[in-house]
Amino acid sequence: MTDIKELLLSRIRDVEDYPEQGVMFKDITPLLADPAAFTALTDALAEVAERTGATKVVGLEARGFILGAPVALRAGLGFIPVRKAGKLPGATLRQSYELEYGSAEIEVHAEDLSAGDRVMVVDDVLATGGTAEASLQLIRRAGAEVAGIAVLMELGFLGGRARLEPALRGAPLEAVLTV
Ligand code: PRP
Ligand code: MG
Repeated sequence: MTDIKELLLSRIRDVEDYPEQGVMFKDITPLLADPAAFTALTDALAEVAERTGATKVVGLEARGFILGAPVALRAGLGFIPVRKAGKLPGATLRQSYELEYGSAEIEVHAEDLSAGDRVMVVDDVLATGGTAEASLQLIRRAGAEVAGIAVLMELGFLGGRARLEPALRGAPLEAVLTV
């Protein structure tokens, strides 16, 4: 493992049985509090955006906002928030997706994405892939192209990568860490 990966891994705290019994929560707040680790992560994710020719960065509420905004600035790109439904004031596109129990909805301002945009999605964790998959659907419904998905951490045992494969249509899914 590289020094950067070791540094990032050392700044992620495993919290057992949170938010519910049987779930191991990946707490990134120690990483955010360490400017060396946060900078290294921002650089790694911005490199993916640059390499894939992205023209915009989408961050997924809430933790994807924290990581995505500095990535967008580092790569010299605009930042577009994809929010949980009901938080954006303008005309939106809305996408629902299935959770383990029930469903959820995310939204984007329709005017923020259009044909000619190549969009990099940034989030902290890829788990089942449901949130990321819904974001790809939003991007395409807006007429934009998917440049790829870049996350801090992929939880390999949950199969998110396989679920996302058809929706990626060949675009890269890059995880700085896989656990
Ligand atoms: C978490 C995480 C990812 C998503 C991954 O977000 O930050 O966005 O779940 O899960 P999935 O791959 O199964 O869709 P969550 O909405 O729980 O919390 P947040 O608002 O703190 O980001
Ligand atoms: Mg999230």
